[in-house]
Amino acid sequence: MPGTLEIGPRGTLARVRLLGDEGYMLYLDLGGGGTGWVRSEEPFDLSPGDVILLLPNGGGFERVPADLWHEESLVGVVRLKLADTTVINQSGIARAIPTRSEVAYEEGYTVEYTTTTGVVRVLAREPLQNLDLEDVTESQVRQFIKDADYSLDFDDFGGLEEVVTRARELIETPLKFRDALAHIRARPIKGVLFTGAPGTGKTMLARIIASKADATFYQISGPEIVSKWYGQSEQLLRKIFEHASQQERAIIFFDEIDSVATQRSEDAHEASRRIVAQLLTLMDGFDRVSNVVVIATTNRPQDIDSALRRPGRFDWEIEFPLPVRMDREAMLRASARNLRTAGSLPYALIAEKTDSWSAAELAAIWSEAALLAVTDGRSAIIAEDLIGGFERTLKHKRYEIKRPKDGAGQ
Ligand SMILES: Nc1ncnc2c1ncn2[C@@H]1O[C@H](COP(=O)(O)OP(=O)(O)OP(=O)(O)O)[C@@H](O)[C@H]1O
Ligand SMILES: [Mg+2]
Repeated sequence: MPGTLEIGPRGTLARVRLLGDEGYMLYLDLGGGGTGWVRSEEPFDLSPGDVILLLPNGGGFERVPADLWHEESLVGVVRLKLADTTVINQSGIARAIPTRSEVAYEEGYTVEYTTTTGVVRVLAREPLQNLDLEDVTESQVRQFIKDADYSLDFDDFGGLEEVVTRARELIETPLKFRDALAHIRARPIKGVLFTGAPGTGKTMLARIIASKADATFYQISGPEIVSKWYGQSEQLLRKIFEHASQQERAIIFFDEIDSVATQRSEDAHEASRRIVAQLLTLMDGFDRVSNVVVIATTNRPQDIDSALRRPGRFDWEIEFPLPVRMDREAMLRASARNLRTAGSLPYALIAEKTDSWSAAELAAIWSEAALLAVTDGRSAIIAEDLIGGFERTLKHKRYEIKRPKDGAGQ
């Protein structure tokens, strides 16, 4: 028989946080984040960090081994280590914890820690990312798919004929004749860069091409993927590419790529650098002839990381210029196709007067014209409305179009 079994009293485990009132007052951490205090007639013979068992019914306390104290430990990356304080980054939130000399750790390490003790042990000598971020789900990926707008047609895209022809050649043809091109063993066109000032029709043309080529269209916004998807952006990109590769045909449209893919200088945001690296990996990983074409847009082609422009990546570029007079007239006519108009309209006159206007600004004329028409009780836009619409748009044109200084002439 073993010796007599002794069972001690039940109680609540607590850890001394602080002694107050010259030792007569004890402030305690209780389990589960609770706190409490105990006052005594005599000073306590305890120090911060000691663990005690509080006995029920005013039975006092008993000192127990400190190892009994169990505080939930967390995992984070050390961002800053000062003599007394360490700053831990836990998925974007900074926490200050005490610096402990017992554990050798440095900035950038992934560590296990508790808020009161500090770092308990080193888990990795590098920052492990996305420790507590959820996996990107299929339905989140699907949110990037824009429904095809079958009402839009190439006829709705006025002017810029060379741009349209070239874009169809580079995007539509490879998607449609993928097998024939594979047979010829042509090098696949993976990435096409659309450059040009805001409102020059880059997004519109990409969407028309996607719908005409019957391709699934994924639209990714550069600024959004950096901010909203921070920490998950690489995974998101990977999943979008994966999803796209399972479609019959797909276009991945990466809007404002310059917001992530500017030259990876020293000061480039770490997140942006990782996104570019991921994008490069994904593009290099395509099959020899693929069903996916990536289109990226930028207003600042000269700033794009040169690694992205290498063969097999975004090695094709289409520049969307500001429309010349002929283009402007064609754009005005194209937009009018879907509008109710009456009588003959002064397209040529308006085209003449809108030197250096973008397509988007021309489109705005129609919105203003429609407002004028309904205000006057008309059910269709007439010449007078179009002229009035032009004058109003001119007045409200808030900013001058910034022409790209270089890149425009190449
Ligand atoms: N060729 C065109 N013919 C008729 N309308 C056009 C044409 N191009 C653009 N538009 C009109 O201008 C609007 C803005 O075009 P779009 O959004 O494609 O510009 P963008 O080049 O993508 O601009 P940003 O760089 O600001 O994204 C379109 O919604 C459409 O109304
Ligand atoms: Mg756009």
